[in-house]
Amino acid sequence: MLIAPPEVRLPSRDAVEKAVRELDRRLGPSKVDVSEAGRLAHARDDSAAAGRLPDAVVLAAGRDDVKVALEVCETHGVPVTPRAAGTGRTGGAVPVAGGVVLATQGMADVVDVDRHDLVAVVQPGVVTGALHAAVEAEGLFYPPDPNSLSSCMIGGNVAENAGGPRAFKYGVTREYVLGLEACLMGGRVLRTGRRTIKGVTGYDVTSLLVGSEGTLGVFTEITLRLVRAPTEIATVLALYADARAAAAAVTRVIARGLVPRCLELLDAWTLEAIRRQGISVDPRAGAMLLVEVDGGADAPLDATLEALGETLSEGGQAIDVVAAQDEAQRARLWEARRMLSMATRKLTKYKLSEDVVVPRSRLVELLDEAARVCERERVRHLTYGHAGDGNMHVNFLWDDDGERPAVDRAIDGLMRATVRLGGTLSGEHGIGVSKAAYLPLEQGPELIALQEDLKRVFDPSGLLNPGKIFPTGHRAC
Ligand code: LAC
Ligand code: ZN
Repeated sequence: MLIAPPEVRLPSRDAVEKAVRELDRRLGPSKVDVSEAGRLAHARDDSAAAGRLPDAVVLAAGRDDVKVALEVCETHGVPVTPRAAGTGRTGGAVPVAGGVVLATQGMADVVDVDRHDLVAVVQPGVVTGALHAAVEAEGLFYPPDPNSLSSCMIGGNVAENAGGPRAFKYGVTREYVLGLEACLMGGRVLRTGRRTIKGVTGYDVTSLLVGSEGTLGVFTEITLRLVRAPTEIATVLALYADARAAAAAVTRVIARGLVPRCLELLDAWTLEAIRRQGISVDPRAGAMLLVEVDGGADAPLDATLEALGETLSEGGQAIDVVAAQDEAQRARLWEARRMLSMATRKLTKYKLSEDVVVPRSRLVELLDEAARVCERERVRHLTYGHAGDGNMHVNFLWDDDGERPAVDRAIDGLMRATVRLGGTLSGEHGIGVSKAAYLPLEQGPELIALQEDLKRVFDPSGLLNPGKIFPTGHRAC
């Protein structure tokens, strides 16, 4: 089930032809893919957002290619959709206006890993897992891991301000981006931010670009803050009869001041999906907490693990609390967690996954609201996610096309409930195409207008990643 593309201005055939001819001439035909297979491969991301087939794909090998592509497309009035790995969940990299997809996966150099300054400089096409490996080889750590780390790329992580399970302790991507080199529509190159840990010069344009979903500029180089790698890591599994009991344990962990690096909650239907993957989970369990703590010589884990075990068991509601016995077991647990998005997709013909966030104290209410709207609309759902951050993936599941209006009503109900609970529509996947219609539920018209003004400052002709974030031209789902 695809979310229809928004109403956006499409480029004329003549403009596209002229742009492609000039791109061919300036970049060389090998970097301008107009084959049907190449265009099809760049028409979708990992969401249900429908795009239009792009007219051409520019395979950028460096900053100069990005610059040329943005200059030529501006001259001819052709829209550009930037893309790294295309693993996004809200259509950020989907070319809803056709035109050119500017693919940066070929820009995959780790330019520098500096052990003294604790800084890495990378190109946008570096796979996040490869960045992890490169810095860990130096005893350093880049904490953000959006779960898809073997396939997602750092350029996309920065564009979406990706989060993931480790955000509870370490924060999200934005907290690690020190500086950016970004190319604007028309070809201007900006260097923002710095390489130092501190720095308050001028407006924080770096932070504005992080999470701008490819609508303000195209990253050509990213400077990241690193931390020392923890030397001890332990994973604990706590099973409960239901998600309410698990959520209550999350509240206790936070109240006690414990800061695990991950605090993930999986509800009953999610556990069922895991069982169907052949992983055995105690049949009595209707919810699971997957908790991970880390430390090192200055923060030994024994005392933390003991306090954690006590807190998870307190109140007598836990069915079982066990620590992973060895690295292999730990890896299996996380593998199951990483697979969740794929495993749950197999349950029904269609799935839509949200990433709403509420203040942590309102987690139980969010779970109740999700259940209530789904019961009202008779829509199947399951919920899992980053409970420590109040950031849950509520997944709507259905088989029959006729159920779609009910799913839309359930999503609308969830969004409204989230805002009512003091929450936000998206914790990590961005607004993109999928949630643009809902933006006014959370943000006032003045704020939306101000952001549209900002967009015009960066991209006056509105050609860079049109149709994203803002509600104009979108209808709900
Ligand atoms: C996850 C991604 C989908 O948490 O955000 O699995
Ligand atoms: Zn997530």
